[in-house]
Order: sequence, then structure tokens, then C-alpha cells
Amino acid sequence: MHVLVLASQKGGSGKTTLSGHLAVEADSAGIGPVALIDTDPQGSLSHWWNSRKSQTPHFAKVGLLELGEALKGLKQAGIKLAVIDTPPAITSSITQVVAHADLVVIPTRPSPHDLRAVGATVDIAERNQKPVIFVVNGATPRARITGEAAVALSQHGTVAPVTLHHRVDFAASMVDGRTVGEVVAKSASAKEVRDLWLYIQERMSRLTGDVKMLPDIKPAHFATEALSSLDERPVAIFAAEPDPVFMDDGPLPPPPAPPPLLPPERRFHPERRVSTTPFSGPERRVHVFGRRAADRPAGV
Ligand SMILES: Nc1ncnc2c1ncn2[C@@H]1O[C@H](COP(=O)(O)OP(=O)(O)OP(=O)(O)O)[C@@H](O)[C@H]1O
Ligand SMILES: [Mg+2]
Repeated sequence: MHVLVLASQKGGSGKTTLSGHLAVEADSAGIGPVALIDTDPQGSLSHWWNSRKSQTPHFAKVGLLELGEALKGLKQAGIKLAVIDTPPAITSSITQVVAHADLVVIPTRPSPHDLRAVGATVDIAERNQKPVIFVVNGATPRARITGEAAVALSQHGTVAPVTLHHRVDFAASMVDGRTVGEVVAKSASAKEVRDLWLYIQERMSRLTGDVKMLPDIKPAHFATEALSSLDERPVAIFAAEPDPVFMDDGPLPPPPAPPPLLPPERRFHPERRVSTTPFSGPERRVHVFGRRAADRPAGV
């Protein structure tokens, strides 16, 4: 049994949304049985699953102290993939869950606040020697900050080559326990989730050495380098201004030049005035926040 953990100390980044969507997608992709585990006392995923008509993916609400035992039980019951949703902000809880992960997915909104917060979650994964994939979630179509966020994240780990854009149907579909793929199978959101799952499936297959998990289909737009790299070297694979209309078709354009690397200890330096991270230096900050009214293309 493989374990996929959705974690991010930042609240509202999309952990619960992605947990439900990826588990349903994994189930439909035929790699199940899949079990969802909610370790968040807020219980959002439990509420979602309780309002769901379908009995799959399976579901378990598990306290952190019982997580190890629960995972053993699920494995014995024949579950092939466990997808675990975690609470925000509580470092010790996230650490306990991450310890069981084969892969940690960190959803991140393309905002300076989310990017500054991401280091703490990466540190937890690194301390547990767990591989990480960032997923940019809630992106605004054609916003330059999305590409900038992906480049900044790529300095700290692998960024999924699929961005989830901000769309009402992600929230709306979950009202009655479903996902975008189950409500509007042909929507752009459903395609994003499907492509994201395929990418994660391939990564998990390679990381765990489970060839049976390798997907048969490989979307053409997945960068060859990203998929062929068996190590966790950062790969900047986003266009500077990704366009959801075009990014799903054909190969991605060459990556933009990454910003200068910093020594790890200064990555998320608390003193912003002396930091040179892409989203915290003074010039960059003016650039990021100052462009909104002036530089945004008309109609966006
Ligand atoms: N791509 C998206 N487009 C539109 N809305 C989204 C998207 N992703 C998530 N949301 C919405 O944003 C809100 C927060 O998402 P979610 O609950 O998945 O985040 P979370 O990381 O689990 O939050 P918490 O840290 O509080 O557990 C929810 O209302 C959800 O429906
Ligand atoms: Mg949540």
C-alpha cells in the first residue's frame, strides 16, 4: 500500500480539495481500492465524504495516535493507496503524518503569503526524508504571479506541471460529496485534476518502484525532463505566464531563468528587508504587488 499525504501549514491552500479529488481520480484510474483518511480535527473531508453517495473511495477518520495501526489495518484489508488530509499549522501533527508518506503533495496558492509559509512544510518533509511535489492551486488565468510562484517553488523541490486554476466548480462540486470530474467530466477543472493525478501516479510509481502503478497514458504536455528525473532535483517547468487555454496542449515552452539560489538557511528569512528571496526582497515586492492595477491585461 502506498501513502500520499497532502500537507501545508498554510490554511486554505487546497489540501482537503485535492485529497478528495485525487483519491476519486486514483480510484477511477483503477489503482484502488483507495482509502481517504482525515486527520484534521476540522473534519472538512469527513463532512464531504458523509454527503457523498458513492461508497468509494473508502474513508476513515483517524486520530493521530492510531494512524500507524490504522494504516496497517487498511493494508491488510487490501487497500492499495491511502490519501491523507492533514490540518493546517499544527507542526507536530503534520510531522506525525508525514512520517508515513511515500510522497508529500504541498498545495500552494500563488500568493506571497503562501510562498513564504511553504518553507516550514518543506522542512518537515526534509527532516523525514520524504519526497515533495508542489501543486500550484487557485491560480488566476494569465496572471504572471503564477509563473513566478512556480519558479520560486522550483528552487525548493519539484513542481507539478499541472496548475489548478481558481474555478467555482472546485468548491461547488464538493457541496454534495462529489468532485469536478463527477459533476462536469468535460470541464477544464476536471481535466486539470485528471492530468495532475496522472503525474502524481507516475511519480509515486517511480518513487516506490511499483511498476504496476505506472500509468498507461502520459499527457503530451508533461515535460520529459520532469518525468525522467528519478531524483528530486528542482525543475522549473512553467511558462512565465501560463495560459490555461494553451498550457494543456503540446509541450511547455522552455523554462524562464530561475532567480538566484539562496543558502537553505536564508530561504525564508524572517527579516524581509535583508532577504533576497524572489517574493520578499523590496524591489521584487514592489514588482509583485505594484503591477496589479497597472500591468494586468485588460479584462483579467
Ligand atoms: N482551485 C480552486 N478554485 C476555487 N476554489 C478552491 C480551489 N481550491 C480550493 N478552493 C476552495 O478554497 C477553500 C479552501 O480549500 P481547502 O479546504 O481545500 O483548503 P485546506 O488547505 O484544506 O484548508 P485548511 O487548511 O483550512 O484545512 C475551500 O472553500 C475550497 O472549496
Ligand atoms: Mg482542509
